[in-house]
Amino acid sequence: MRPAVITIDGPAGSGKTVVGKRIADALGYLYLDTGAFYRALTWLALSRGIDPHDGVTLAQLARQVTIQIVHPTVADGRPYTVLVNGQDVTTELSLPDVANTVSIVAAHPEVRAELLPIQRRVASQGQVVMAGRDIGTVVVPDADLKLYLDAPLPIRVARRLAQLRERGIEPDPAQIAAEMAARDRLDQARAVAPLRPAPDAVIIDTTAMSIDEEVATILDLIAKRDP
Ligand code: DC
Repeated sequence: MRPAVITIDGPAGSGKTVVGKRIADALGYLYLDTGAFYRALTWLALSRGIDPHDGVTLAQLARQVTIQIVHPTVADGRPYTVLVNGQDVTTELSLPDVANTVSIVAAHPEVRAELLPIQRRVASQGQVVMAGRDIGTVVVPDADLKLYLDAPLPIRVARRLAQLRERGIEPDPAQIAAEMAARDRLDQARAVAPLRPAPDAVIIDTTAMSIDEEVATILDLIAKRDP
């Protein structure tokens, strides 16, 4: 049988979004980037001046806010549109302020407890590719196919730099490398739902692979489970 839920976990810049979206499109599945929930909450907290270290207040905020991840509403190459209380904040979610604060927000157990049921509801509907850090380990531990994408930090940094340059941004490579390393450390070291492959995850080292090769490898895995 074709897997109803496909989970993709891995560190920042491992290609989860690009590959996950392509897999979902090929299967006619929904693609859900769960990092967008954490980023949306972080954006709202920053815009309201809430301390990212205050887990209790952040969890309250998570209870009150309506975060919607929907099909792209603007044809600017975005994989999805994110609405916070109805406001389109999609482009704001990749701003450095959000990117550099989101791992602090995501480390609070209270925040994760609020966002967990929302993610599980989507998973229970099936026909979904869900990407994040703890999808195979915590959110959908009984998923039919779990993938873990990985590549060494310098490779992931190079990909992120190329992505930013495509958007006309000239980043400082040393700064991007330091920020990505810091996020990896926080995501891997947190006490609740740290980044790690599920015991039954298929680990794909994408170092020497193109996006097309990654997509082909994963579609092949899916085909083998759905003969
Ligand atoms: O995938 P991303 O870069 O948009 O994720 C942003 C942050 O959100 C990341 O640093 C860790 C956190 N995150 C998480 O803790 N659990 C998830 N399932 C997804 C993201």
